[in-house]
Amino acid sequence: METIRGWVLKKREHGNIIFIDLRNRDGVTQCVIRRENVSNEDWSKAEELTQESSIILRGGWRLEDRAPRGREFVVNGIEIVHLAETPYPLGKKEHSPETLMEKRHLAVRGQRYQAIFRVRSEILRASREYFINNGYVEVSPPIIVTTACEGGATLFKIDYFDIPAYLTQSSQLYLEIMIFTYEKVWCLAPSFRAEKSRTRRHLAEFWHLEAEAAWMNLDELMKLEEELVSHICRSVAEKCQYELKLLNRNPEELLEIEPPFKRISYEEAIMELKREGVNIEIGDEIGGDEEYILTKKHNKPIFLVGYPLKYKPFYVKELKDKSGMGATVDLLAPEGYGEMATGGEREDNIEKLIERIRGEGFDPENYDWYIDLRRYGSVPHAGFGMGIDRLTWWICKLDHIRDATPFPRLYRTGKMI
Ligand code: 4AD
Ligand code: MG
Repeated sequence: METIRGWVLKKREHGNIIFIDLRNRDGVTQCVIRRENVSNEDWSKAEELTQESSIILRGGWRLEDRAPRGREFVVNGIEIVHLAETPYPLGKKEHSPETLMEKRHLAVRGQRYQAIFRVRSEILRASREYFINNGYVEVSPPIIVTTACEGGATLFKIDYFDIPAYLTQSSQLYLEIMIFTYEKVWCLAPSFRAEKSRTRRHLAEFWHLEAEAAWMNLDELMKLEEELVSHICRSVAEKCQYELKLLNRNPEELLEIEPPFKRISYEEAIMELKREGVNIEIGDEIGGDEEYILTKKHNKPIFLVGYPLKYKPFYVKELKDKSGMGATVDLLAPEGYGEMATGGEREDNIEKLIERIRGEGFDPENYDWYIDLRRYGSVPHAGFGMGIDRLTWWICKLDHIRDATPFPRLYRTGKMI
């Protein structure tokens, strides 16, 4: 005798047979209750079962081609652990995005979310595995900070015992500190951006995977990123086949994500956009709409190399052979998704750095600790940051980033859970 436990997803009654789709950590299992196989008392229990009731079934497995996983559970005993109230607030087939946000605590039980967050968990596991295998030391950065990293406009201010402080936008500056101890470091931490806009790719709180390495240049950085992303895609393709099928993402597409990724310069990207009919000139920003155009025809991520310094934060190093251009690289996901990661070489000329900090309207005094790194044993170095939510969004082929994370934080969402 075996048992299976979980929650009632669906119940279908056909005279003397009741089919239960039972939901648990393994997905959905078809369970068959035949009147002749159970006591009268258990048959009545089966009849009264409601959606999301928690139950324990006794019985045995039988091969069945038509069942979702090729086998079904034949029941001969039922224990109701909790009979769920009716109606279940998410009992209908389709629900609006607003309802799915308001009832997030229940929505996360749904099969689609179960698949997405399982993939997300695999993305995190594979990332950690990659950094461990490649000699990176994991560090824990602070969340409460007193300096901006990505400009003043998107800072969330908090009151820290009467001192003005912020929620971190990026752990980069702290990773830069730690390279002088370990040379190769990484972290996984939440980052916050007070993005006052509603887009399909912006969250106010996101999980940020960041790495930084001493002695590293732009080429080596791109190799690191393409190896990491390929490792993640391979792991997801191998370990999440059931989930990917449910999400209509063919695992073969992920297995094709292998180094090298195409590299295009900022200037080449502008030329390509012009060919596509976009009204854009050298010196302009390449935003989300442009990234869509650049990536929609690709099946593999591409690197966008170099970017006008005037749009970039103070820490970005100027390209040696192109004045006014930053030594940065954006990793753009294919199929129209666009930016997944930004990284680059860091400015190590102390005068330029101070001037650029002032240029952003910040007081270099507040960055004295960061500037010290250029005073005591400065080394060329580079790093990047990648949004885990963005990566999940692309890998799971989702429409909106809010579905890439269980409890999204968005601009003016209404009720927050
Ligand atoms: O491009 P960003 O702003 O770069 C940095 O923060 C650097 N300091 C990273 C570094 O070099 N260590 O952010 C990096 C990535 C983006 O490419 C994107 O994937 C994600 O973080 N990201 C967001 N994801 C969701 N919602 C937002 N509002 C995001 N802002 C950035
Ligand atoms: Mg960026």
